[in-house]
Amino acid sequence: MEKRYITTPIYYVNDIPHIGHAYTTIVCDTMARFYRLQGYDTYFLTGTDEHGQKIEQAASKKGFTPKEYADDISAKFRNLWDYFEISYDHFIRTTDDYHKQTVQNAFEKMYKKGDIYKGEYEGYYCVSCESFFTQTQLLDDECCPDCGKKTSIVKEESYFFKLSKYQDKLLKWYEENEDCIIPKNKKNEIINFVKSGLKDLSITRTSFDWGIKLPASLNDDKHVMYVWLDALLNYLSALGYTLGSEKMGYWDHTLHVVGKDILRFHAVYWPAFLMSLELPLPKHIAAHGWWTRDGVKMSKSLGNVVNPKEVADAYGKECFRYFLLREVPFGQDGDFSQKALIDRINSDLSNELGNLLSRIVGMSSKYSDYEINSKDVLKFYKNELYSVDCFINNAISALNEVATNRYLEELWKILSVANGVIAKYEPWNLIKNSKNDEALALVALCANLLTKVAILLYPAMPKSASKIAEILDFEINNKTYESVIKEKNLLNFKAQKTNPLFVKVENELLKRPEVKQEELPQKQDNDIQIDDFKKCVIKVGTILECENIEGSEKLLKFSIDLGEDKPRQIISGIAKYYNPLDLIGKQICVLANLKPRKIFKHISEGMILSAEDGRLTLLSVANKVKNGAIIG
Ligand code: MSP
Repeated sequence: MEKRYITTPIYYVNDIPHIGHAYTTIVCDTMARFYRLQGYDTYFLTGTDEHGQKIEQAASKKGFTPKEYADDISAKFRNLWDYFEISYDHFIRTTDDYHKQTVQNAFEKMYKKGDIYKGEYEGYYCVSCESFFTQTQLLDDECCPDCGKKTSIVKEESYFFKLSKYQDKLLKWYEENEDCIIPKNKKNEIINFVKSGLKDLSITRTSFDWGIKLPASLNDDKHVMYVWLDALLNYLSALGYTLGSEKMGYWDHTLHVVGKDILRFHAVYWPAFLMSLELPLPKHIAAHGWWTRDGVKMSKSLGNVVNPKEVADAYGKECFRYFLLREVPFGQDGDFSQKALIDRINSDLSNELGNLLSRIVGMSSKYSDYEINSKDVLKFYKNELYSVDCFINNAISALNEVATNRYLEELWKILSVANGVIAKYEPWNLIKNSKNDEALALVALCANLLTKVAILLYPAMPKSASKIAEILDFEINNKTYESVIKEKNLLNFKAQKTNPLFVKVENELLKRPEVKQEELPQKQDNDIQIDDFKKCVIKVGTILECENIEGSEKLLKFSIDLGEDKPRQIISGIAKYYNPLDLIGKQICVLANLKPRKIFKHISEGMILSAEDGRLTLLSVANKVKNGAIIG
């Protein structure tokens, strides 16, 4: 059976887990489940990075030994992953004996090969990033170019790895392996970094103790390994490298998922170490962006760090998973806000996914005593059935590239087809007109479309997908994946009555953190360039019609003249603040090039802009202008 190996970074134990760690781990969990669903023999590794100066300092600040401190925080990570039911096969700790042994064996191999030599290091060190810099690389005031914190000057005896020797080989690897680093733009950054010249890397330290000692054969007790050499080798020690385990078979197809801040270690140093050890290189190193909260960088001092368990307790683990995977294009930075999460739950999960299941179950109960037979689907709805094939292929190839957002978008297109055919063919009218076969085939078509979505959604939302399978009475495993997704077979179903799969959320469920204003950074990471702003087309328009939407307390449906051929329909969640009749005739501002989306069964072709300060006020212009006037 073909093998797959997938790893998260191992997390430093100087800090408790937050949304960034949860994101990486959930992305990896999704990939691991996706591989297993396709029938690959998969090994999924996560764990904690426990050595180094940073951990030693954090522990002593709290009055613990480094090992006591590491035990405590490592357990917190492991408990969180167990709470999220992460399907890891092994949790590694760099303080584990077999890991220490492997690191020493690997060091010895590289040393014997002549890739390690003794010298003296003189330069700057950032303890927070556990990274070396030369003076020219530093920011003002000797601060670290990566995290901005003050560096310290280091002058000590050190062993060096001959990184410079591997510069050309690395460039050749990048060139010959199109997707060894994804996404593409990150790969280009790495290539430029390597082209600018690689210096040999200091890989041992003598000024502190908390690390793995050098192999006994070197007889040099005062050195401990550089924490990044120690940490990167976890990917091999977990597979029993140098200790004679068969698990090394997984190494042939490896995917490392990492944050953008640690890509350099994984895409430059790591492959060079592997070349020195004469091992194959990873198939993919995938780098993701960073999460902010309500547009602001998270930090302990600001008190705005997102606790993944708190969010999942309030909104549901599966909703949180869906949000993380769907909200940001993989590789780009993302923003967490309760509003964005609630929008995803209400619109994507409740309206589009949950409602489809309820409608299928409801129709099958009315028309056929919960039996759903697919015998006439091809006779009546062949085109509709086959129209989703391209979305399925796109979803699979997107997930193979770790593009979790695109994968979910494609699955939601299938849901749109299913919800769309119900609206188009109105099965209740087919029944009224005695077209029973057509109505029953339509229900079966929708059940089969939802089955395809559920099977493919399983990696991202295992519980919800399994619940759908239980209600419709099928199983999600490699066999059904092959049959339904690959061979495109249709299923028959015996449905069951069900409660709504997702409950709509009306208000924010978590208290907002009080961000200490004085701690806010002057320049935030989410600043945009003028060209970014220019992408938004904001127009002035007049409200022609406005009415409440039946069944929703929040939404209003607008018809707005934006100076175009026909008025735009826009759905906006401002019913709490305005009486629809008061708005007719008013000029307002609209984000006009927002991709149309369905809100509560109605297409919305733009967004009405408003100001919020506890209340909500629609934006307008000071004097009347022509409809369609551009704001900029
Ligand atoms: N111990 C090293 C990794 C060694 S792997 C051989 C390390 N640990 S870390 O705990 O600091 O970071 C682990 C991961 O969390 C990194 O991939 C980092 O990018 C990610 N994140 C930390 N903060 C983050 C956000 N705010 N958002 C998204 N991910 C972020 O680095």
